[in-house]
Amino acid sequence: MDAHTIVTPRAEAYAEACTSAESELLHRITRWTHLHTAYPHMLSGAYQGQLLTLIAAMLHPHTAIEVGAFVGYSTICLAQGMPQDSVLHTVEVNDEIESQLRSNLVEAGVDGRVEVHIGSALQVVPALDEVFDLAFIDADKRNTQVYYDLLLPKMRRGGVVLVDNVLWGGKVLLDEATYDTDTRLMDAFNRYVQQDSRVENILLTLRDGLMLCRVL
Ligand SMILES: C[S@@+](CC[C@H](N)C(=O)[O-])C[C@H]1O[C@@H](n2cnc3c(N)ncnc32)[C@H](O)[C@@H]1O
Repeated sequence: MDAHTIVTPRAEAYAEACTSAESELLHRITRWTHLHTAYPHMLSGAYQGQLLTLIAAMLHPHTAIEVGAFVGYSTICLAQGMPQDSVLHTVEVNDEIESQLRSNLVEAGVDGRVEVHIGSALQVVPALDEVFDLAFIDADKRNTQVYYDLLLPKMRRGGVVLVDNVLWGGKVLLDEATYDTDTRLMDAFNRYVQQDSRVENILLTLRDGLMLCRVL
């Protein structure tokens, strides 16, 4: 089972057709990522990207954080929804994509509002002395719960934490006896959030699964 069997391809295509179109720049970033990297599937993509923009636009966050920038697709989506006087911190461990990330942010005209931290979020996040209104966790999946626990105390009450890939390609839906380590960790994370009295949450069956938590 893969992500595309969670929501039928037909429903997904229809939903995408009825969603605001990707900008020309984001389309170009997508093409570049397919041509020049081995991991184009890591991009949020047009559909989820539009949700990120809308959530950012509805929340009016003053300060936000993204864990896992890659080439900046979701960074741009978030920043474009955020107010002009806001700051988005984004953390990316891979310095080989730093120049592409930075030039994409410049092209999008959001570089002045995005603070790029090159380094592991395991070290960067604890060192940030900020209160966040919005967080998007989309890095190495084995540490998803670690990032969630590092960020929760830094979130404003009423703030929103989004976590990507919580359906893990549909593998969390399979028999637990067949789980590999990554699937077990993602399932454990989903159950952890479900029992976390610090948040109210909804698991959206959007793309590869997006957990949306509102901090109480
Ligand atoms: C799924 S991609 C992010 C995609 C991006 N959010 C988007 O939607 O376009 C995950 C990224 O997390 C980065 N990453 C992995 N481990 C990390 C860590 N410990 N700290 C920060 N970034 C990390 C990877 O290098 C990769 O670029």
